[in-house]
Amino acid sequence: MRFRTRWRMIAGLAGFGLAAAGCGAQASYTPPVFPPGNVVAGAQLFTKTCSACHGLTAEGTVGLAPPLWQKGGVVSPNYSTLTTLTAFVYKNMPKIAPGSLTRQQASNVATFIWGLDGKTGSSRAHQLLAMLTPSGSAPTTPSPSGSSSKFLSANPRSKTVTLTLIAGYNSANHGGFNFDGGYNGDMTVTIPVGYKVTVDFKNQAQFPHSAAIIGPTGSSATGPTIKGASTPHPVTGTAPGGSATFSFTPHTAGGYRIACLFPGHLLLGMYINLKVVSSGTPSMS
Ligand code: HEC
Repeated sequence: MRFRTRWRMIAGLAGFGLAAAGCGAQASYTPPVFPPGNVVAGAQLFTKTCSACHGLTAEGTVGLAPPLWQKGGVVSPNYSTLTTLTAFVYKNMPKIAPGSLTRQQASNVATFIWGLDGKTGSSRAHQLLAMLTPSGSAPTTPSPSGSSSKFLSANPRSKTVTLTLIAGYNSANHGGFNFDGGYNGDMTVTIPVGYKVTVDFKNQAQFPHSAAIIGPTGSSATGPTIKGASTPHPVTGTAPGGSATFSFTPHTAGGYRIACLFPGHLLLGMYINLKVVSSGTPSMS
């Protein structure tokens, strides 16, 4: 009966009626069928749709979303089989828009996560993780030396960090809708709580741009979620060639975005991720 029980659980997860269960008519009930998943498409979907909450390398974000892989594997009923995982993702994720994934997309991303979790062997998991990490190496805890990018300079002793944020750094994303070359959350600045962050913003683009710390999702913010954490008049923006500086000290771990709030720019993907962690050293990747 293990088989039937399992399908009943999946049916429940996928929101299918259970009218047939328990009256000997299981044959008339068709469990959801998911097509085979494609891990490459799954990794791409993960970066685009899931990483804002679960972290760029699926390591989880404290207070926001659980890790999707761990040493030794994630112990959660959602991971009992690949089908269970797929059904969970299909019905519940992304958390802000459950039910928005097609079966193929759910299958792709679940197949990817299933492999990340070491279920298909640790060397495979390592390989898959590398697909999420731009440098090609598996994620590790940030290096103790402090900064890890030419845009970030940190002083762990005074708990201060300066982030050089250049709007329109290069032509990436529709001709320049990026910060330091990053967009659509493909870069992450990691800051431990209690660090004072000074953002040196420069607009090197042809259009007005701004920078503000906002929540991890949505595309219609008009101001920062952390008080004072934006360039002046973030919706009007700073003119081409202009610059501005602002500082803030995050006190709550979680996922945020550094985004341009000039109308439409966030929708175009003009944001990078800001991850506030409970301990460690600042880094950027
Ligand atoms: C808005 C934030 C957010 C986004 C975006 C998001 N998730 Fe989640 N996810 C969560 C939270 C919170 C949970 C914890 C369980 C719950 O609340 O349903 C979770 C749980 C999960 C779990 C179960 C973990 C476990 O240990 O049981 C999986 C798997 C998962 N998410 C996959 C995804 C995938 C795949 C995507 C992208 C398609 C995604 N999530 C997008 C917030 C998010």
